[in-house]
Amino acid sequence: MILADSLTKDPDTGLVVAEQLNVVKAHCTSCHSSKLILQNRFTRDGWKEKIRWMQRTQNLWDLRDSEPVVLDYLAKYYGPEQKAFDGRRKPLPGVQWYKL
Ligand code: HEC
Repeated sequence: MILADSLTKDPDTGLVVAEQLNVVKAHCTSCHSSKLILQNRFTRDGWKEKIRWMQRTQNLWDLRDSEPVVLDYLAKYYGPEQKAFDGRRKPLPGVQWYKL
C-alpha cells in the first residue's frame, strides 16, 4: 500500500486524488460522508465485504463494472496500515552467545 499522507487530496472529500476518484465519489459519497472511508483501513476483501454489507442492509446498489475500480482504489489507498519502522534495529543474525 502507498502511504496516503504523501498524496494529493481532493478538497471536497479528503480522498486521495487518483484516476478512479470520480468513480469512487459517484458511488461512495452520496449516502454518507467520505469520512467513513477515511476512518477505515481494510484489505481488498475487507472492502468487498463492507460493500456487500451495505448492499444487504443499506440499499447500496450493484456497482457492476465500477466495483473492481472502486476496490482497486480502496485497497491501494485505504489498505491496512503498514507499520512504520519502530526505531529498533533488527536482531543480529547468528550470534553465538556465551554460556555463563
Ligand atoms: C445507498 C447508500 C450508501 C452508499 C451509496 C454507500 N454507503 Fe457506505 N454506508 C451506508 C450506511 C447507511 C452506513 C452505516 C452508517 C452508520 O453506521 O452511521 C454505511 C457505512 C459505511 C462504512 C462504515 C462501515 C463500518 O463498519 O462502520 C464504510 C467504510 C462505508 N460505508 C464505505 C462505503 C463505500 C466504500 C462506498 C462506495 C462503494 C459506500 N460506503 C457507499 C450507506 C451507503
